[in-house]
Amino acid sequence: MKRMLSGIKPTGQLHLGNYIGALRHFVEYQDEYDVFAFIANLHCITVPQDPKELKKNLRDCVALYLACGLDPEKATIFLQTDVKEHAQLGYIMNCHTYMGELNRMTQFKDKQSKGEKNLSGGLYTYPALMAADILLYSPDYVPVGEDQKQHVELTRDVAIRMNHRYGDLFKIPEPLVAKVGARIMSLSDPSKKMSKSDATNKGCIYLLDDLKTARKKVMSAVTDNLAHVHYDPENQPGVSNLMQIYSSLNHEKPFADIEKEFDGKGYGDFKKAVADSVCALLEEIQRKYNEIQTSGIIEKTLTDGAAKARAIAEKELDKVQEAIGMEII
Ligand code: AMP
Ligand code: TRP
Repeated sequence: MKRMLSGIKPTGQLHLGNYIGALRHFVEYQDEYDVFAFIANLHCITVPQDPKELKKNLRDCVALYLACGLDPEKATIFLQTDVKEHAQLGYIMNCHTYMGELNRMTQFKDKQSKGEKNLSGGLYTYPALMAADILLYSPDYVPVGEDQKQHVELTRDVAIRMNHRYGDLFKIPEPLVAKVGARIMSLSDPSKKMSKSDATNKGCIYLLDDLKTARKKVMSAVTDNLAHVHYDPENQPGVSNLMQIYSSLNHEKPFADIEKEFDGKGYGDFKKAVADSVCALLEEIQRKYNEIQTSGIIEKTLTDGAAKARAIAEKELDKVQEAIGMEII
């Protein structure tokens, strides 16, 4: 069985972009692949976090993995810090990643160019830790949203380099970026990615938003004055983004079919249909989320997941340290 691995940072609450770009694929693939899905809590402290809030977000993140349909009987779900090998291989990967490579990573460059002060060293080197997260488990595929593809490509480059230097150490993973929904945009500013750091809060639908709030966010999404539902990201970015959401939540309905469905109808009708789809999804997720809170399944999932993940990670780290010449016995 081929293996698939991915992670999500529990920075703030999970949102519709996380679901459409990443989470739903973990769920879709869990029958066919050996899925490893982890909560990247080392990655989220690359920016300042409030400890109490972080703790709540961690729990919520696991609960939402489960509520979105990940099944701990099929997938291995774990917390990154429960497997200490991540940090250790992360350091080794850091020593094999060039500063020139890190300088090219757009996420860091973006933050730097915004003039943000006191950016941490961890934020700069985080792609090396991400490479370790991946390579510890030798996955075939890494399903991610568009913004993370560059990091998976860096992982490949560094892994290939180390394979040349030390012999065949790592399996070279492939990023898996879906054709539709890999970059869901903000509803209030479709030139920006839907993100947890949305200052206005209007452009981002959180999976735990109450349904009324979620509906309002869709209904007030920025569109245009062309008045026809047509897929054209350049000239109709807002409408095209809503079409991506609608398609993703309706069995990948082709854009041409969506255009036909709303031919001659106004944006009001279209937005209402998008809002209905979003609310149906959120209602189902939140119902399961509430059941999960009191079931004790969160703790069991993490304990079982960490044991499974650790067994694999320990072996891989040993292999790497041995190849590099770091071990005595
Ligand atoms: P993050 O919230 O940055 O940890 O992202 C977790 C996963 O969700 C990654 O695979 C991202 O690429 C994906 N993701 C985050 N934001 C979006 C978005 N707006 N559209 C699609 N995928 C996203
Ligand atoms: N960096 C990813 C993000 O910000 C999260 C992540 C950490 C990840 N390690 C990973 C994703 C390994 C895939 C594989 O979204």
